[in-house]
Amino acid sequence: MTNHGALREIIEGLLQAEKMISPKYFYDERGSQLFEKITQLPEYYLTKTELDIMHANVGEFAELVGPQASLIEFGSGSSRKTRVLLKNLINQAVYVPVDISEQHLLESARRLRSEFPDLEILPVVADFTRPFELPSPTVMPLRNIVYFPGSTIGNFTHDAAIELLKVMHHGAGMDGAMLIGVDLQKDPNIIERAYNDSAGVTAEFNLNVLRHLNREYDFDFDLDAFTHDARYNPEAGRIEMRLISSRDQIVNVGPEIISITAGEGVLTEYSHKYTLDDFTAMAELAGFKVAKVWTDADDLFSIQYCVRI
Ligand code: AVJ
Repeated sequence: MTNHGALREIIEGLLQAEKMISPKYFYDERGSQLFEKITQLPEYYLTKTELDIMHANVGEFAELVGPQASLIEFGSGSSRKTRVLLKNLINQAVYVPVDISEQHLLESARRLRSEFPDLEILPVVADFTRPFELPSPTVMPLRNIVYFPGSTIGNFTHDAAIELLKVMHHGAGMDGAMLIGVDLQKDPNIIERAYNDSAGVTAEFNLNVLRHLNREYDFDFDLDAFTHDARYNPEAGRIEMRLISSRDQIVNVGPEIISITAGEGVLTEYSHKYTLDDFTAMAELAGFKVAKVWTDADDLFSIQYCVRI
């Protein structure tokens, strides 16, 4: 996407009846680092639970994936969970991490290359919600495995999630598969705590989106005039994260004027939580059958292995 297209998209979001900024704009260099910090917070159960499930079942993952696979990761970030796979997959052909944050992606690819010198690693800088090309590996893989950990799928509304799952279905090809991390519905207090951590890192992460827009697209948001808000919407089964304006204010970008009233929220993220049945139904609408599900003992989080119907 051109910078211009991105700017248009951001302005359009801010001119909606409910103002919104896509969560993909969280991930500039600082945002990626803040997210890493979030994953280590005591309240943020998602990453550690997913890692536990990975460690407990990686032998079975490797068996299901089979030898000489291409692992294509959507939104790879620091690739911490991926290491568990890279260490255990059999004779892996190639690893293709796809991420929007270039510096972060290339830095993590560089580290992985030194840890796995025999593995071909082909990073792709792309916004995976838009069409992008997959690179051609040196060794022809036997299967494509699309890997989408972290429950990032939760950022998307129902229809957009199905569209994205269709892209992954396409990426998996005829006899490939998808391995996806999906956060589960549970006591809303546990969920809300994960997005309102006591150290305030999530608040900083949320506000950082404005800093990113100021720097990259020349907005003039006053970061001191917004506060972090994250609450669970039980009807929709999702966390809704907003930045609440503490006063009437005007934000400028080029000739564009955006007025925000005191108490008004700018939606920055949905993080959907699913029942196992919800996810099975969504996967089916995208052409996937859930072939195997792993969860932790408390059913906080799931990893799902999906193949073509
Ligand atoms: C990366 C989208 C999975 O929704 O939990 C963490 C992002 N936002 N804390 C999530 C996030 C606030 C995260 N995902």
